[in-house]
Amino acid sequence: MKLKILKDNKPSLRETSKEVSFPMHEEDYKLLDKMTEYLKLSQDEEYAAKHKLRAGVGLAAPQVGVNKRMFVVYIQNGDEIINLQLVNPKIIEMSAKKCALKNGEGCLSVDNEHPGFVHRHYRIKIKAFNALNRKEEELTFVGFPAIVIQHEYDHLDGVLFYDRIDPFSPFRLLPGEVEI
Ligand code: NI
Repeated sequence: MKLKILKDNKPSLRETSKEVSFPMHEEDYKLLDKMTEYLKLSQDEEYAAKHKLRAGVGLAAPQVGVNKRMFVVYIQNGDEIINLQLVNPKIIEMSAKKCALKNGEGCLSVDNEHPGFVHRHYRIKIKAFNALNRKEEELTFVGFPAIVIQHEYDHLDGVLFYDRIDPFSPFRLLPGEVEI
């Protein structure tokens, strides 16, 4: 099965996704693996050019037509790789300090440009079932990975990044907010 990424005109992307019940079905584990594989391939320049894929660092199940609370993240930064498959995630702590991506956010489900800062918590602690080791975990992220996780988490509640851009002052930073 090849994954098809839904675009933001699909009403199901605006729905609140359902909690995954345990024990998790093998097909859900397989779906998460496919989603991770998709991100890896999308970051392979040659493959992406050939198959006209946009590079992505995160993908949520609702984006592939499955309204369940799970998402994957795959971030490569030199030797460091952040590879996550999170199920029923809950953000349990967040910093008051905010941050925003300098060049704004993008999304595999969004083709149009939406310029502006998306304000995110600089540091978050998340509790989730980690499908890679099949354990419940608490994980802390700072900066870019924290932004990616908040973006994916939003998909589970039907929220898209541009919903969070202030239409009146899209490029105004909040007090103490850092650009990344
Ligand atoms: Ni997205």
